[in-house]
Amino acid sequence: DPLEPFVIVLFGATGDLAKRKLLPGLAHLAESALAPDIRVVGTSLEDLTQDEFRDIAKESVEKYGMHKLDAAQWEDFATKLEYVPQSAGPDALRDACQRARQEISAQSGVPAERVQVLHYLSVPPKAAKSVITMLRDAGLVEHSRVVMEKPFGTDLATAIELNNFVHDTFTESQIFRIDHFLGKEAAQNILAFRFANGLFEPIWNRQFIDHIQIDIPESLGLDQRANFYESTGAYKDMVVTHLFQVMAFVAMEPPTALEPQAISEEKNKVFRSMRPVLPSNVVRGQYVGYRDEVGVAPDSETETFIALKVGIDNWRWAGVPFYLRTGKRLAEGQRIISIAFREAPKSMFPPGSGVGSEGPDHLTFDLADSSKVSLSFYGKRPGPGMRLEKLSMQFSTQETERARDVLEAYERLILDAMRGDHTLFTTAEGIESLWERSAPLLADPPPVKSYPQGSWGPNAIHQLIAPHAWRLPFER
Ligand code: BG6
Repeated sequence: DPLEPFVIVLFGATGDLAKRKLLPGLAHLAESALAPDIRVVGTSLEDLTQDEFRDIAKESVEKYGMHKLDAAQWEDFATKLEYVPQSAGPDALRDACQRARQEISAQSGVPAERVQVLHYLSVPPKAAKSVITMLRDAGLVEHSRVVMEKPFGTDLATAIELNNFVHDTFTESQIFRIDHFLGKEAAQNILAFRFANGLFEPIWNRQFIDHIQIDIPESLGLDQRANFYESTGAYKDMVVTHLFQVMAFVAMEPPTALEPQAISEEKNKVFRSMRPVLPSNVVRGQYVGYRDEVGVAPDSETETFIALKVGIDNWRWAGVPFYLRTGKRLAEGQRIISIAFREAPKSMFPPGSGVGSEGPDHLTFDLADSSKVSLSFYGKRPGPGMRLEKLSMQFSTQETERARDVLEAYERLILDAMRGDHTLFTTAEGIESLWERSAPLLADPPPVKSYPQGSWGPNAIHQLIAPHAWRLPFER
């Protein structure tokens, strides 16, 4: 279906996320056939001229854009950009939106007052409320939608408070809580893989699966985000949002339909079945040198690393541990979900044949843009006798002509929000369940253990996963 024209109001328009993902993504949407009729009104705490903002946008599109623009496309996109400093107040923002609506109306014929507005709140959690208040004061609530960035609150009480606050102004159908991991092609491929094939679902349970790892180490550090990160830490920045959301795609029951409500219902059931996150099942780490970073307290207890064991108490998963790990300044940047199958019940291969030496059979989803899925299993090594070795079958989008169709996660989700499709967004109820499950850890977090930069985290991660072993690094 053709997309309606939209004004996108980008709050936090000069922040890290806007520069890396949102401005390049909007530029691609505006200059491709995907969303040609958009205007972008950028706003932030910085006092910038129109030209200064366009320069920032140009640099970010050139530096970070997955899809490059040629000179003519950039010139066209630049005419669709406008900047209003937040200090100019609600009236100035309303006027800028009005101008953008009129320009769109002149081109598309849609009456200006009916042109929809998408407010993208790329702001820290504590700023979200003042932005919502500003939108109310500016009268920018009707015919509009609001995209909210994580983390949604910092515990159950603040999440409930934030949800209530937003609901005072916007209805739930206008709210899109974004979790960009769900916008990754590879995350959606988990749904396709599980529910479009008859082959895998029958073995997707405790009888055949031994354990599951969701492992998202990052080699990058804080960049310019010390301020945000100090008050957030790895658990709130990555686990409550991305890792648990992806875990729900892996663990949920088949939904009755591929529709927002049906999918949310199943995901929320997973969250409700999750065992509380106990401090004894968690390793918190901090990289050596973190306390010397600019903007970090010299006695900071913020974790830059976290590994945890999670249980899902239902008929499908009882007794199957889920191991999650993520952190900054680790040895490699990877995003894998690895399903370890149970070993064969009896081995008929002679000792020394190699069976079992390289761990169990695995199915691995790589959440990188290449959307790789691989299955590793034992097979016969050519030559005399019966020696076994690990073989692998692999699929990757990158090796197909479809690679150019891959949408960056944020682009995909912004498009969905403009279409009004909530399928890949999170719900207030789901988020509140996750905070509720997190309460024991938040109340009594174990002290951080230090780990060298470029490692895989503190040594305690091996005890956490024993008798299994972390799948990464692959070359081991
Ligand atoms: C963000 C976190 O949500 O996700 C960052 O705030 C993290 O700390 C990023 O680096 C990882 O996303 P991606 O898509 O690069 O894996």
